Amino acid sequence: MLNKYLLLSLLFSLLSCNQMPEPEVEKSSPNTEESKVPSFDLPALLTAKDGQKINSKEDWENIRRPELLQLFEKEMFGKVPSNDIKVNVEERIATNNALGGKTTIKEVIFTFSNQSKELKATLLLFLPNNRTSPAPIFLGYNFDGNHTIFPDESISLPNTWMRKNTTYGMTDDTASQLSRGVKSFRWPVLNIINRGYGLATMYYGDIDPDFDDNFENGIHALFPQKPNKSEWGSLATWAWAFSKVVDYFETTNTIDHEKVIVMGHSRLGKTALWAGAVDERYAMVISNNSGCGGAALSKRKFGESINAINTRFPHWFNDNFNQYNDQEEKLPFDQHQLIALMAPRPVYIASAVGDTWADPKGEFLSGKHATPAYQLYGLNGLEIAEQPPINQPENSGHIGYHVRSGKHDLTVYDWEQYLDFADMHLNEIKD
Ligand code: GCU
Repeated sequence: MLNKYLLLSLLFSLLSCNQMPEPEVEKSSPNTEESKVPSFDLPALLTAKDGQKINSKEDWENIRRPELLQLFEKEMFGKVPSNDIKVNVEERIATNNALGGKTTIKEVIFTFSNQSKELKATLLLFLPNNRTSPAPIFLGYNFDGNHTIFPDESISLPNTWMRKNTTYGMTDDTASQLSRGVKSFRWPVLNIINRGYGLATMYYGDIDPDFDDNFENGIHALFPQKPNKSEWGSLATWAWAFSKVVDYFETTNTIDHEKVIVMGHSRLGKTALWAGAVDERYAMVISNNSGCGGAALSKRKFGESINAINTRFPHWFNDNFNQYNDQEEKLPFDQHQLIALMAPRPVYIASAVGDTWADPKGEFLSGKHATPAYQLYGLNGLEIAEQPPINQPENSGHIGYHVRSGKHDLTVYDWEQYLDFADMHLNEIKD
């Protein structure tokens, strides 16, 4: 059975270069030539709005970090509207005997509610059975439903919107049994469990279906007003729900809530970065091929532009962000400052050499230019002048980086680097 699924999964991985049909783009002839990158000044990381130089971690934490966080919130990801959403959590063990007895799989049903409406979302948990202490855990959204990441019949199918995908047997906007396990190539559960970590994942569409519906569905339906121009888009919505997951981790004794690693691929890597910025409870943050609006510097104007992302995905960021369409030079911030918001926590940025749309060099440069924030804590960030060679991770500081061979994807190679980086850094935190 397992082998059949693994084979299917591999086949799907080969077939699915473009994993899901997306709103048609006009990729408005993105710049992919280094010689056409304009000269630009990066907004200063360690100078406050009033011109004060930031020289200590105290000034960073009390002055500059809050200033930058607010800037990203107001101009890009959007503020969470005030709310009184209740969160109720119910656990169910799917099996305690998967992977030859190595892992317990649980489903945790989150019910978000206001007085009149509710929304349910399922967190899928894999916990190592051979630990005597609470497990450190990776937390990341998946694109296609929890049932696609691991071939076990006990895992429920989502009953929310899914992007139609005939390759996965989805002939309409609902999940299909045929797609069980088809994304397991992105989620090496066995390696994660063997290394002593847990894995928690949720289908992002459970929280907010990923299409522009003028904020009618998903968690937005529980909020009486439509977001105003500085309030949240979907990325901030997904990040918000993950904070509720961390609240839940704090109540369980099987998970080490001081060792939660938030991670994500692509748009969900952008989400992981924003989640890590707004919630300092994450011990480590991982951006896999997050590109524009994630780790890549916008002012390089390489690959996906702000105009392209806002046109195709008008629901991801807030409306204020539209003012920078084709106006990257006017941005009062850039993505190195987003990476710096993780300091002093370890952050890992991964690129793929074939992923020019995500601007691998721009992703590297963000890490490099976030380094001064780490130095305020006496830590190394990403202290190399140039991108390292392909498949040679640079992980000696608190900002890890690699550029992998191949295309836009989340692979076992990427995971191996994250597991190594987590081993290196999470041991610094006492059990
Ligand atoms: C599109 C989009 C990217 C995004 C990617 C993904 O390519 O333009 O910004 O990162 O989808 O999420 O797969």
